[in-house]
Amino acid sequence: MNLEGKVALVTGEGMGVGEAIAERLAREGADVVIDNRARGYGPGVLRRVRATGRRGVFLQGALGTVGDDFRMVAHGIEAFGKLDILVNHAAMEKQADFWNVSEAEYDAVLRGNLKGVFFATQAFVRHLRENKRPGKIINISSVHEELPAPRFSACCISKGGLRMLMRSLAIELAPLGITVNNVAPGAIETPPLNSRLLDSPDLLRALLDHIPLNHLGEPADVAGAVAFLASPDADYITGATLIVDGGLLWNRAG
Ligand SMILES: NC(=O)c1ccc[n+]([C@@H]2O[C@H](COP(=O)([O-])OP(=O)(O)OC[C@H]3O[C@@H](n4cnc5c(N)ncnc54)[C@H](O)[C@@H]3O)[C@@H](O)[C@H]2O)c1
Repeated sequence: MNLEGKVALVTGEGMGVGEAIAERLAREGADVVIDNRARGYGPGVLRRVRATGRRGVFLQGALGTVGDDFRMVAHGIEAFGKLDILVNHAAMEKQADFWNVSEAEYDAVLRGNLKGVFFATQAFVRHLRENKRPGKIINISSVHEELPAPRFSACCISKGGLRMLMRSLAIELAPLGITVNNVAPGAIETPPLNSRLLDSPDLLRALLDHIPLNHLGEPADVAGAVAFLASPDADYITGATLIVDGGLLWNRAG
């Protein structure tokens, strides 16, 4: 197992991608701290983590204010005595015509998707720096860190910002032995996406037409990429985006 003795914090673990990441990191040997702003997600993911034989702890808290971000990381450290891996997975999206996006919607998306990542990462880096230990930061971005999407402007700028944050930190944190990378999913089969597509076979067909591998991704596809970037096999990789999209991004962008 690649991650024996490591402790990972996964933010915003949900039903699909986040749960798969938490379970996969545990299967690789890590103990896992899980955070979500919604309390209901805890029991299911903890069952999956503990079934691997590893320890798991669930913290409830919304990211996006400095105080909450620092507190969440501090509680994560308290849980198992340290953190080695941070997976910034929490995010939300608002689909709306640009001219209708409200200030509250803009703030909610940018606060959770970018400011929360910034300050949770800052707290994590301070912890590693104080203890003179290396670490791994993996952000779950999106093909929309690169690909424009009408009616998703707030989400797109949050993911584009995440790409630049990752690249900047990769350089700044390399002397501390901390690597920083993004995993950029395309269309992954998760409950919200599923329900939208299952309601509309035409939408699904149109989407699949853009995906060269001609099927949706699974949460496990994203989790595998995260586990690789968290592992010693990726020790020499920093400042990279690993795209997990069946070819969608460059097919659309090309
Ligand atoms: N599903 C896809 O097709 C897809 C595609 C591209 C990128 N992604 C990215 O993958 C990740 C997971 O996507 P998903 O579809 O599983 O989403 P999801 O909505 O199921 O999971 C996100 C979870 O984060 C939590 N969350 C949101 N904001 C939070 C905050 N500020 N603090 C704490 N918790 C918060 C939510 O409660 C939710 O459970 C996200 O970063 C998303 O942008 C997903």
